[in-house]
Amino acid sequence: MTQEDREKWNSKYATSDLVQEVSKVVLSYEHLFPSSGKALDVAGGTGRHAVWLAERGMQVTLVDISEEALQRAALRAKNAGVKVDTICHDLDDGLPEGKWDLIFTNLFFDRRLFSQFGEALSPGGRLIVIQPTRTNATRHAGPPERFLPGDHELLELVPGLHVVFYETGWLQEGRFDAVLVAESPGSTLKSDRRQE
Ligand SMILES: C[S@@+](CC[C@H](N)C(=O)[O-])C[C@H]1O[C@@H](n2cnc3c(N)ncnc32)[C@H](O)[C@@H]1O
Repeated sequence: MTQEDREKWNSKYATSDLVQEVSKVVLSYEHLFPSSGKALDVAGGTGRHAVWLAERGMQVTLVDISEEALQRAALRAKNAGVKVDTICHDLDDGLPEGKWDLIFTNLFFDRRLFSQFGEALSPGGRLIVIQPTRTNATRHAGPPERFLPGDHELLELVPGLHVVFYETGWLQEGRFDAVLVAESPGSTLKSDRRQE
């Protein structure tokens, strides 16, 4: 399955001149994104959000299975004058090693990863997931059902995290998306300093 996925995405990226802009949905939730610390863009594709996060001040790592996507992401980062680390990795094998102040996923859903997000977040770190849910299938043929969580399922997948924001709706790009923001318990360095 995974080899198939790699080939499918490599060929999709190789045969498209598509210069993808930062998602309008992401931009409309810009205020929810941190602007410093370490970020992991999960299945980040050609780096539109990884580069955006780096431009906003984060130290970004993008993980994806497609070498073609990663090459494009590296070029995009170079052209933008920012640094983005890339990891070619099959997320079927879990998240790559590391602790992150932000874990971000957009248009990628694998239930199995959710149990790992809490462990991979730094204390006070933030998980942001933007993903179409089942209602999306009432108007659109894709993504396929296996990539569509129930409309409120994301909330059930993060029991150890503190949900600070959750919204569903027909958002800017015409999909029915869920937007989840959840934080790892524990204080950040900033709030530690405030307590001193
Ligand atoms: C719909 S694209 C979304 C890309 C990006 N998040 C964005 O918003 O532009 C899905 C991405 O998931 C990646 N992907 C699919 N299966 C994967 C796997 N098993 N491991 C890692 N990445 C995978 C694909 O290569 C592709 O870049």
